[in-house]
Amino acid sequence: MSDGMGDYGLRQEDPPLYYQAHVFCCTNERPAGHPRGCCRGKGAERLRNYMKARAKELGLKDVRINTAGCLDRCELGPTMVIYPEGVWYSYSTPADIDEILQTHLMEGRRVERLLLQPDAVPDEMEARNRSA
Ligand code: FES
Repeated sequence: MSDGMGDYGLRQEDPPLYYQAHVFCCTNERPAGHPRGCCRGKGAERLRNYMKARAKELGLKDVRINTAGCLDRCELGPTMVIYPEGVWYSYSTPADIDEILQTHLMEGRRVERLLLQPDAVPDEMEARNRSA
């Protein structure tokens, strides 16, 4: 498929994956009152630390959980993206993290209720657009 943006998909000739799953959790912080907010202000660092500790306790192999800077979906945060599949989640509690670990990383399924679609907009932006 060619859409003028290049074809960045996995290729058969690529080296094997180093990690079966590579998780990037945004923990970016912005000054208080910033209009976009930030993931750290919504507990992202604590939740990322929880995820890393739980993944270790569960003995997940070939899974790397990294801190990321801003992923540019701040209003929807805390956000994470999991590669190579490129699936995004918005989460807010340790229970959400447990579900992502169990369902996505251990069972290879998706946590539908936490999925971030490419065209997702935060509720307040949606409301603003409706009243404009
Ligand atoms: S601050 Fe987390 S996506 Fe921007």
